[in-house]
Amino acid sequence: MPRVTPHADITLHVNGIDHPLHADTRTTLLDALREHLGLTGAKKGCDHGQCGACTVLVDGRRANACLLLAVAVEGSEITTIEGLGDGEALHPLQDAFVAYDAFQCGYCTPGQICSAVGMIAEARDGWPSGVSGDLTADPVLDDDEIRERMSGNICRCGAYANIVPAIAEVAR
Ligand code: FES
Ligand code: FES
Repeated sequence: MPRVTPHADITLHVNGIDHPLHADTRTTLLDALREHLGLTGAKKGCDHGQCGACTVLVDGRRANACLLLAVAVEGSEITTIEGLGDGEALHPLQDAFVAYDAFQCGYCTPGQICSAVGMIAEARDGWPSGVSGDLTADPVLDDDEIRERMSGNICRCGAYANIVPAIAEVAR
């Protein structure tokens, strides 16, 4: 007997627009964005939650889209790199990455920028990172703190020397 794969009709709210789609219920958010919605900004690096290339914002919090099932985020506000700017105007972090030449191949860059947006919001909300050893301390986004908080985003080109100051300029 042929095996039937379970499919579902779901609607993803991405960058302010509802996107209905019919997909295998095992489809990850990353594959839904890239393969179903044509939003290829979020990249597939490892597909295992280890590189951060697929980072998007889900209800304002950064998340690895390769680790989320699309059906699990129906009803959430999803923001990808394509939705960060405002029309022709780039998001300040996008501007800063350009100004600081904070990329080489650019493969990790959408994830780095989405992650930095979420990271700055986390710090402003007082989420500790543990760099200081004092989990109750108000986080100050110095370079060490930025490196720690961005440690889930890997750049195989090693552009960290420019990524950190680009983020620091916006964070401070
Ligand atoms: Fe998602 Fe690497 S592709 S963390
Ligand atoms: Fe190439 Fe980061 S710029 S992987």
